[in-house]
Formats: sequence, structure tokens, C-alpha cells
Amino acid sequence: MKKSIYRKFRRNIIFFTLLVSFTPLILLGGIIYYNFVRVYEEKIEDQVKYRAKSQCNTVEVFLRERVAILSTLVDTHSFEYLKQQTNLSHIFDVISRRTDGLVDIGVIDGSGQHIAYSGPYDLAGLNYYHTFWFNEVMSKGKYISDVFMGFRKSPHFIIAVRGHNNGKNWVLRTTIDPDLFHQLVRTAQTGRSGDAYIINKDGIFQTGTRFSGSILGQSNLDTKLFGEGTSLVEKIKLNGRVKYYAGAWLKNNDWLLVISQDVSEEMAGLLTTRNFAILILSLGCLAIIYTTIITTKMTVQRLEKANDGINELNAQLMHSDKLAALGKMAAGIAHEINNPLAVIGEKAGWMRDLLMDEAFTNSDSYKEYSVSIDKIEEHVERARKITHNMLGFIRKMEPRLDDVDINGVLNQTVGLMQNQARLNNITIQMEFDPNIPIIASDQSQLQQVFLNLISNAIDAIEIGKSKEGRINLKTWQKNEYVFISIEDNGPGIPKESERKIFDPFFTTKKTGKGTGLGLSISYNIIEKMGGMINFENKAPQGIVFTIKLPVVLPEKK
Ligand SMILES: Nc1ncnc2c1ncn2[C@@H]1O[C@H](COP(=O)(O)OP(=O)(O)OP(=O)(O)O)[C@@H](O)[C@H]1O
Ligand SMILES: [Mg+2]
Repeated sequence: MKKSIYRKFRRNIIFFTLLVSFTPLILLGGIIYYNFVRVYEEKIEDQVKYRAKSQCNTVEVFLRERVAILSTLVDTHSFEYLKQQTNLSHIFDVISRRTDGLVDIGVIDGSGQHIAYSGPYDLAGLNYYHTFWFNEVMSKGKYISDVFMGFRKSPHFIIAVRGHNNGKNWVLRTTIDPDLFHQLVRTAQTGRSGDAYIINKDGIFQTGTRFSGSILGQSNLDTKLFGEGTSLVEKIKLNGRVKYYAGAWLKNNDWLLVISQDVSEEMAGLLTTRNFAILILSLGCLAIIYTTIITTKMTVQRLEKANDGINELNAQLMHSDKLAALGKMAAGIAHEINNPLAVIGEKAGWMRDLLMDEAFTNSDSYKEYSVSIDKIEEHVERARKITHNMLGFIRKMEPRLDDVDINGVLNQTVGLMQNQARLNNITIQMEFDPNIPIIASDQSQLQQVFLNLISNAIDAIEIGKSKEGRINLKTWQKNEYVFISIEDNGPGIPKESERKIFDPFFTTKKTGKGTGLGLSISYNIIEKMGGMINFENKAPQGIVFTIKLPVVLPEKK
């Protein structure tokens, strides 16, 4: 019951200590982490958006420059001049040397006939009248196509501008190098998972890509997700990983330049820091748990010990009270019994005198009478001894102050008991400290105590007589106290009797053998001298009684 209260107490302290230490720690950690992730994500978003926007500008400038070159040619040269193959080749040579990305150039008349061509393919003489781009450029004046296969059967796109001479429309057209264009777009790719490419409104790739698909393939991005304007960021989850897609519209909202970035790659630094922080936090938590448990355990143990001390003290107080109450009662009983005992003793004596009379001496029952009177006298004597002991126990025994040599008193007592010990095959060993001082005490009372203890030891050994008996007497001094120990190798005391042995009348001996007063009288005597009797029960290996007496030095005479 008591143990479970301490256990509950300990559990509660540990629980509440951990609760108040962990709650702010976890809350703080969570809030910091949440905010950190949010700020980090915003930063990545901005960065991807910015890259899309700036790359879009670069591509726009590239296209605008190429359109400007064609427009300048159309504005500064006549159809008649440019349709001359040599003139066109010369001009293309000059332009190619200064401008990247132009594959070829061609002049087409109003009927869609390819009149002059300079470039690596054999496209002269083809008619473009029915192609989508020819119609577009004729009606709008300028046209940049989507990527298509065309007559040359490989993906490319063209830029075309309309010229007007002598009331006739014609077209100057150039092909943009798809590889160079792709390289230009690709410069916006970053990291291990970044991608940059262009798709048209229908999601068809206008450049090659790193991971997303090949040119003219279908992208799985829904271009409608990317709103009007220059750029917009979308977060899309693919295979459980979050990817950011930033898109910027160009070419009059026909093409969407897309920059994609895997968030986890960008967040890798943060994740490493987070894992490190979690590790440190976990170690810290373990340290807190360990310290809390150990400290609480130690505190509760100390408390338990202190409480045990208090309980012990209470038990001692109760014991003293019990002794005092019993003592008073015993004194009353002893006094009341003493008088009838005296009368019985006297009457028994008188009966013995009468028995000496001749009339009785010759009686057949003389012997029986005589034995009975002996028995009466013996038991009266025994009863008197008991009452005497009881009175001795309660009387205010103010100890006399003799000069007592403890070792000497012990030697004397052993002398008295030696015969009895020898008869019972018991050896009494003595280890006396010769330096213990002579103290002021009551020699006869001390002798009574020693006698009680040694005779108890002899009785005990007799009971468990399986081995050779041994009684060990020791004396020593420590600080202001003299110690006397009496150890025997008898059977010791059963655990349940431990608390009772100092109680008056507690005895395990046969009726007539022990009164159960020996230890309580001894306890009383030593307590009055300002000392203590303790015992260490080593059952079944015997018991050690230790007497502790304060050193009271005799007054100098
Ligand atoms: N050395 C010992 N070994 C084992 N038990 C002991 C020892 N000393 C005392 N006891 C136990 O304590 C009980 C009380 O002892 P106590 O000296 O008070 O009374 P007693 O010896 O029984 O009677 P009395 O001393 O009046 O002859 C004993 O009956 C015995 O059971
Ligand atoms: Mg005894």
C-alpha cells in the first residue's frame, strides 16, 4: 500500500515534469519549423517564377531580333533584287555570320511559289500556297510558326514576314535552328531535377525537354492552369513529390515557357538541418527523461527513507508508551499479589511446622503433605520473584553512580555463567578493547543486563543445539559512546517476533522457564542510563545484541 503511494507519487512527478518541459519545446520546435518551411517555400516559388520570367524575356528578345532582321531586309530590298539567287545567298551569308540560329532563307511570291532559296535543303520550287503559315503571314504581315515537320520532315519552326512591292505581296521566310533554340531555353535548367522548355497552347512541346517529353510530344501540363500575364506558379504533386511549375506566356500568348523544379531537391538543405535538429532534440529529450527519472527516483527514495525514520521514531514512542502503561499496570498487580503471596507463604510455613507434630509424622499421607507444602513454597517463591522483577521493572531506578570498568563487569558476569555455558558445550569468546574508559554508571544494573543477555544467548543455543555453541562478547569505543555486543550462533528470532521481544512478558520459553521480563528490564535500565539496546537478527544464524552507552566520565575525587 505504502509502496504503491510512492510509486504513484513518482509517476505523477515524472509525468508533470516531462509535460511542462516537453510542451513548450515541442510547440516552439513545431512553430519554428512550420514558419521556416513556409518562408523557404515562398523563396523557392519566387525564384522559380523569376527564372521563368527572365528566360521568357530572353527568348522573346531572340525571336524579336530575328523578326527584325527579316523586316529590315524586306523594307530595304525589293522583291526583284532578293529573288535573284546570288543576291539572296550573299545576303544570307552576311546575316549568318552575324546572327545565330538561322538555318535557311527563302523568297516566296504571292502565289506561294518558292522562287529563291538559300540553305542546306532542296526547297526551291516548292509551293506553300496551301500551308497554314503562308496564309497567316499574308494576312497578318508577320508570323512565327509553331514547331512542325514541313517538307523537310524534321521538327522546326519558321519566321516569315510579308513584303510589298509594286502592288504585289511576297514573303521572306527563315527557319530557326531547333537545337540552338533548345539550348537557349535550356540555360534556365538548374539542379538535378530542374527542367525548362516551351509548350504551345495545346501542350505540344516546342523544344526538347530534360525529363518531360520530346519535341512535338504532348505534355501532361494543363496550360489553362497558367493564367494570363507573364508568369504564374503551380504546385503539382507527382509520385508523392511536390514539383513547382512556373510558366510565362510569350509570342502573343501562343507559347508557354515552363520552368519546373522538384521542391524536395531545393529543400534538401533544409531537410538535412531539420533531421539534425530532430536528432539533437531527441537526444535532449532523452537526457531530460533520464535526468527526470533519476532525480525523481532519488528524491522519492530520500523521502521514503525520511518517512521510514519518522515511522520508526513513532514506533519507538508507541513502544515506550506501551511499556509505561504496562509498567503501571504491572506495578498495581504486583503490589496486590504480594500481600496474598506473603499470607500463603506464611501459612505454608505454619503448615510445615504443624506437620512436624508427631500425629502427622506418623500419618500415611505425611510424605504427600510434605511434598505439597514444598511445591506451595516453591511456587510462592517463584511468584514472588516475578512480582519482584515486575516491581524492579517499574520502580524509578535512579542508577547509582559507581566507577564502572565495563570489561571488568563483563568478565565477572562471564565468570558467573561459565559453568552453565560449559555444561551446554558453549564457548564464550571475549574481544575487549582495553582502552575503553572507566565510566560513571550503576555496576549492579549493568551486570543484570549482561546476565540477562548472556543467559538468553545460552538458552537460545540450547534450543537450536545442532552445532557447537559460541557466544562472542565485544567491547569498543566510538566517539562519545562505549559499545558492548553479545553475539550468539543460536537460531535467532522468527521475523514476526522481532517487534515483540522487548515487550514485558513476551517469552517463547516453557512456562516456568522464562518470565519474558529479562529484555524489557534490560531495555529500561539502559534507556535510563541514556543508552540504547539494538539487535541484528541473523536468523537462522543467530543474533547480535548491541548496547550503546554514553561515556560519562566519573567525577574526580
Ligand atoms: N539470543 C536470543 N536468541 C533467540 N531468541 C532470543 C534471544 N534473546 C531473547 N530471545 C527471545 O526473546 C524472548 C524474550 O526474552 P526475555 O529475556 O525478555 O524473556 P525470557 O528470556 O523468555 O524470560 P526471562 O528473561 O524472564 O527468563 C525470549 O523468550 C526469546 O524468544
Ligand atoms: Mg531472558
